[in-house]
Amino acid sequence: MRMKRIYLLWIFCFSICYADSSIYRNADRNQDESPVSKYLLNPIHNVIITQRGSNVTLPCMLRWRPRSYKVKWSKINPVDPLENLIIISNGKQHKNYDKLKGRARLRRSHRLDASLVITNVSLEDEGRYKCELVNGLEDQSLTLSLHLEGVVFPYQSKEGRYHYNYVEARQACEEQDGRMATFSQLYQAWTDGLDWCNAGWTLDGTVHYPVIVPREPCGGNLPPGIRSYGPKDKIKDRFDVFCFTSALKGHVYYIHGPMNYREASESCQAHQALMAKVGHLYAEWRFAGLDQCDGGWLLDGSVRFPITEPRERCGGLPDPGVRSFGFPNPEQKLYGVYCYSLI
Ligand SMILES: *[C@@H]1O[C@H](CO)[C@@H](O)[C@H](O)[C@H]1NC(C)=O
Ligand SMILES: *[C@@H]1O[C@H](CO)[C@@H](O)[C@H](O)[C@H]1NC(C)=O
Repeated sequence: MRMKRIYLLWIFCFSICYADSSIYRNADRNQDESPVSKYLLNPIHNVIITQRGSNVTLPCMLRWRPRSYKVKWSKINPVDPLENLIIISNGKQHKNYDKLKGRARLRRSHRLDASLVITNVSLEDEGRYKCELVNGLEDQSLTLSLHLEGVVFPYQSKEGRYHYNYVEARQACEEQDGRMATFSQLYQAWTDGLDWCNAGWTLDGTVHYPVIVPREPCGGNLPPGIRSYGPKDKIKDRFDVFCFTSALKGHVYYIHGPMNYREASESCQAHQALMAKVGHLYAEWRFAGLDQCDGGWLLDGSVRFPITEPRERCGGLPDPGVRSFGFPNPEQKLYGVYCYSLI
């Protein structure tokens, strides 16, 4: 009996000590990139993944508390060298700044916890964050990246191909319940299967198009990849755009037609719903697996349908996706409608 207890104790200690030393080893391995911090514990994961609408915690732990110090959280903006302050705390009081106003707080689960909690995560929250310990002598910091799970969709104007300058492109994404995609979101989408033969803006002002199946009109026989035009003039140059959206509050459903655009809009209203935006349809397709082999009107006047299980009679394309009929004449009485409802 006694032996057993000692044995258990030994196992217990071993696992704690082992876990502990592995954290330190991890920290040491990071030494080349960021020096081991005296006061801040290096996180085990530098990338935190969440969805729009969730609450998320960005961990930041003190190893111990200096006698007096402040914790400062900020967001790193690659194109703006100014500091985007989120919160400053001296352990007792704290001050919130504009960024994330009302949605950010320190978690403070215990005396050494300086983690940041962001509630109701929005698309704009994607990016890199810095937790900084300021004690006047040796300021120390660590950075974390917040990634949203989501889906990238190419968007083209009703007026036709290559219509948007950068500013208009940004707005177009927002109007479709999205945000202009970052290059890394576009890259992720390409690995997920996005193939689009028109160049589009991404958030940093560069222009690209993702190709999975090389073909003559899409950059010829170069290997699959993201074809890049590099940075373009944000006012004068015109392209399509890549938008990003994440999980949806509410849901999207289809009502059978045939209806023209006006009837479609009335039909959603009669159900206390709104016509879906393009971002709504993509989010429902990606997160809820909406599969509907019928073209339906969307708010922007386009007609699309979402396919998760490709079949011969539904557009014939081999891969899942949201298919588009473009922007038909609104008088055409041929399609159903996709409605978006919050409940
Ligand atoms: C997020 O936190 C708030 C309170 O801070 C809570 O009311 C809300 O239910 C939480 N949301 C989710 C999705 O957990
Ligand atoms: C969450 O944020 C969205 C805007 O991003 C807003 O419309 C919604 O009302 C917010 N929800 C809560 C519970 O605060």
